[in-house]
Amino acid sequence: LDLDFTQFFPSIPYIIDGIWVTLSIVAVAALLGLSLGIILSLLKIGNIKILRWLADAYTSIFRGTPLVLQLMIVYYGLPQMLGVDIPAYMAAVIAFGLNSSAYVSEIIRAGIQAVDKGQKEAAEALGISYKPMMKDIILPQAMKNILPALMNEWITLTKESAIVTVIGVMDIMRRAYVVGGEKFAFFEPLIIAGVIYYLMVMVLTLLGKALERRMKRSD
Ligand code: ARG
Repeated sequence: LDLDFTQFFPSIPYIIDGIWVTLSIVAVAALLGLSLGIILSLLKIGNIKILRWLADAYTSIFRGTPLVLQLMIVYYGLPQMLGVDIPAYMAAVIAFGLNSSAYVSEIIRAGIQAVDKGQKEAAEALGISYKPMMKDIILPQAMKNILPALMNEWITLTKESAIVTVIGVMDIMRRAYVVGGEKFAFFEPLIIAGVIYYLMVMVLTLLGKALERRMKRSD
């Protein structure tokens, strides 16, 4: 066993710079996923049958196939169909955003439907109409289920973003791989990348915990 981390010190800033690439993909994809996910969840709890069916089918397909496959379809497959090249960064944001929206729509749907139906019945008995009932009674309670699950989704997204390396995006993962290839030693740079991902996930976890504490206080 001969590990030598010192020879990798000069490469650490190069790998760390990948944080911005990773973060920007995750941030934009998370936003896209949240927006689309909200729309899909509304379709799912709505009472238009065909739209409900479409939203369910969408979710089923995106959760039922590998993310890496979806990424490759967007990057290699779509250009063939549309006749335009999609930059790797954009393909990543699209694939992750579409994929995440499937998960987010279920998080929101389940969160809303988990609120005791007595709450809805009581509101209706009091003559409160749909909109204020949703806004002031159901959603504030649903948030307690939704926010922690959303935080989890974004942690998953952060880790899964490492697969953009297969389409050549210079994220943390790919940079570690490139450094490994240059030095003919992969263990050390991969461990360095692992530490960076772990720290990023820890930051998100702490943020999530702080958020949960704040929600508890408002009880
Ligand atoms: N490894 C899973 C896949 O390849 C993860 C999917 C992404 N998960 C998520 N919560 N966005 O399908």
